[in-house]
Amino acid sequence: MNRREFMTWAGAGFLATSLPVALAACSTPTATSPLSPPMANAGTNGYIAVANLADLRPDSAVEVISPDKKPIAITGDIQKPESIVAVNPTCTHKGCVVKWNESGKQFVCPCHGASFAASGQVKQGPASKPLPTYAVKVENGKILVKV
Ligand code: FES
Repeated sequence: MNRREFMTWAGAGFLATSLPVALAACSTPTATSPLSPPMANAGTNGYIAVANLADLRPDSAVEVISPDKKPIAITGDIQKPESIVAVNPTCTHKGCVVKWNESGKQFVCPCHGASFAASGQVKQGPASKPLPTYAVKVENGKILVKV
Protein backbone atom coordinates (compact mmCIF):
# COMPACT_ATOMS: atom_id res chain seq x y z
CA MET A 1 0.00 0.00 0.00
CA ASN A 2 1.50 3.28 -1.06
CA ARG A 3 0.95 6.60 0.67
CA ARG A 4 -1.90 7.67 -1.65
CA GLU A 5 -3.81 4.41 -1.12
CA PHE A 6 -3.29 4.66 2.64
CA MET A 7 -4.63 8.24 2.77
CA THR A 8 -7.70 7.29 0.72
CA TRP A 9 -8.39 4.32 2.99
CA ALA A 10 -7.87 6.37 6.19
CA GLY A 11 -10.10 9.20 4.91
CA ALA A 12 -12.94 6.83 4.06
CA GLY A 13 -12.64 5.21 7.49
CA PHE A 14 -12.76 8.56 9.23
CA LEU A 15 -15.89 9.57 7.32
CA ALA A 16 -17.58 6.24 8.01
CA THR A 17 -17.02 6.52 11.77
CA SER A 18 -17.75 10.22 12.23
CA LEU A 19 -20.84 10.57 10.01
CA PRO A 20 -23.28 8.88 12.46
CA VAL A 21 -21.96 11.03 15.32
CA ALA A 22 -22.38 14.20 13.26
CA LEU A 23 -25.93 13.22 12.25
CA ALA A 24 -26.88 12.46 15.86
CA ALA A 25 -25.50 15.80 17.02
CA CYS A 26 -27.58 17.67 14.46
CA SER A 27 -30.89 15.90 15.17
CA THR A 28 -33.48 17.20 17.65
CA PRO A 29 -34.39 15.03 20.63
CA THR A 30 -37.70 13.19 20.50
CA ALA A 31 -40.35 13.25 23.22
CA THR A 32 -39.26 9.79 24.36
CA SER A 33 -35.63 10.79 24.78
CA PRO A 34 -34.46 10.49 28.39
CA LEU A 35 -32.89 13.93 27.99
CA SER A 36 -36.19 15.60 27.07
CA PRO A 37 -37.21 18.52 29.29
CA PRO A 38 -40.04 18.03 31.82
CA MET A 39 -42.45 19.62 29.32
CA ALA A 40 -42.76 16.11 27.86
CA ASN A 41 -45.47 15.62 30.50
CA ALA A 42 -47.50 18.59 29.25
CA GLY A 43 -51.19 18.05 29.85
CA THR A 44 -54.20 19.54 28.17
CA ASN A 45 -55.12 23.22 28.07
CA GLY A 46 -51.77 24.37 29.40
CA TYR A 47 -51.77 22.22 32.53
CA ILE A 48 -48.54 20.42 33.33
CA ALA A 49 -47.98 17.61 35.79
CA VAL A 50 -45.72 18.90 38.56
CA ALA A 51 -46.08 16.32 41.34
CA ASN A 52 -47.65 13.04 42.30
CA LEU A 53 -50.78 13.25 44.43
CA ALA A 54 -49.11 10.75 46.78
CA ASP A 55 -46.37 13.35 47.48
CA LEU A 56 -48.87 15.52 49.34
CA ARG A 57 -48.75 14.91 53.10
CA PRO A 58 -51.19 16.26 55.71
CA ASP A 59 -50.26 19.76 56.84
CA SER A 60 -47.26 19.92 54.53
CA ALA A 61 -46.43 21.66 51.28
CA VAL A 62 -44.83 20.26 48.15
CA GLU A 63 -42.43 22.72 46.57
CA VAL A 64 -41.53 22.32 42.92
CA ILE A 65 -40.15 24.37 40.04
CA SER A 66 -42.11 24.41 36.78
CA PRO A 67 -40.33 23.65 33.51
CA ASP A 68 -40.26 27.38 32.82
CA LYS A 69 -38.64 27.98 36.24
CA LYS A 70 -41.64 29.29 38.18
CA PRO A 71 -41.69 28.25 41.85
CA ILE A 72 -44.85 26.45 42.93
CA ALA A 73 -45.94 25.46 46.44
CA ILE A 74 -48.81 22.99 46.69
CA THR A 75 -50.90 22.31 49.79
CA GLY A 76 -54.09 20.41 50.44
CA ASP A 77 -55.67 17.18 51.55
CA ILE A 78 -54.95 14.14 49.43
CA GLN A 79 -58.41 12.80 50.35
CA LYS A 80 -60.08 16.00 49.10
CA PRO A 81 -58.55 16.92 45.73
CA GLU A 82 -60.80 20.00 45.57
CA SER A 83 -58.88 21.37 48.58
CA ILE A 84 -55.54 21.38 46.74
CA VAL A 85 -54.10 24.84 46.18
CA ALA A 86 -51.00 25.87 44.22
CA VAL A 87 -49.40 29.24 44.90
CA ASN A 88 -46.34 31.12 43.76
CA PRO A 89 -44.32 31.27 47.02
CA THR A 90 -42.68 34.57 46.16
CA CYS A 91 -43.61 37.08 48.86
CA THR A 92 -45.62 40.00 47.52
CA HIS A 93 -43.88 42.44 49.88
CA LYS A 94 -40.30 42.44 48.58
CA GLY A 95 -39.89 39.11 46.80
CA CYS A 96 -38.41 36.72 49.36
CA VAL A 97 -39.45 33.08 49.09
CA VAL A 98 -41.98 32.17 51.77
CA LYS A 99 -41.71 28.84 53.59
CA TRP A 100 -44.50 26.57 54.70
CA ASN A 101 -44.89 26.35 58.48
CA GLU A 102 -46.50 23.01 59.29
CA SER A 103 -47.50 23.78 62.87
CA GLY A 104 -49.11 27.10 61.93
CA LYS A 105 -50.46 25.75 58.62
CA GLN A 106 -49.37 28.91 56.86
CA PHE A 107 -46.64 30.34 54.67
CA VAL A 108 -44.21 32.57 56.54
CA CYS A 109 -41.79 35.02 54.96
CA PRO A 110 -38.29 34.82 56.48
CA CYS A 111 -37.46 38.41 55.53
CA HIS A 112 -40.01 40.62 57.30
CA GLY A 113 -42.42 38.15 58.89
CA ALA A 114 -45.46 38.33 56.63
CA SER A 115 -47.66 35.25 56.74
CA PHE A 116 -50.12 33.84 54.25
CA ALA A 117 -52.84 31.21 54.46
CA ALA A 118 -52.55 28.07 52.34
CA SER A 119 -54.88 29.80 49.87
CA GLY A 120 -52.32 32.61 49.53
CA GLN A 121 -54.42 35.21 51.39
CA VAL A 122 -52.48 37.60 53.64
CA LYS A 123 -52.78 36.76 57.34
CA GLN A 124 -50.19 39.24 58.60
CA GLY A 125 -48.28 42.13 56.95
CA PRO A 126 -46.21 43.89 55.90
CA ALA A 127 -47.33 42.20 52.68
CA SER A 128 -50.68 43.54 51.53
CA LYS A 129 -51.34 41.42 48.44
CA PRO A 130 -52.03 37.67 48.42
CA LEU A 131 -49.67 35.15 46.92
CA PRO A 132 -50.54 34.52 43.26
CA THR A 133 -52.33 31.21 42.74
CA TYR A 134 -52.24 28.75 39.87
CA ALA A 135 -55.19 26.78 38.55
CA VAL A 136 -54.76 23.20 39.73
CA LYS A 137 -56.42 19.87 39.06
CA VAL A 138 -55.78 16.20 39.75
CA GLU A 139 -55.76 13.56 37.03
CA ASN A 140 -54.59 9.97 37.19
CA GLY A 141 -52.78 10.45 40.48
CA LYS A 142 -50.89 13.53 39.27
CA ILE A 143 -51.21 17.14 40.35
CA LEU A 144 -51.44 19.35 37.28
CA VAL A 145 -50.93 23.10 37.42
CA LYS A 146 -51.57 25.78 34.83
CA VAL A 147 -48.61 28.14 34.99
FE1 FES B 1 -41.78 39.06 52.66
FE2 FES B 1 -40.97 41.46 53.29
S1 FES B 1 -40.31 40.23 51.66
S2 FES B 1 -42.42 40.26 54.32
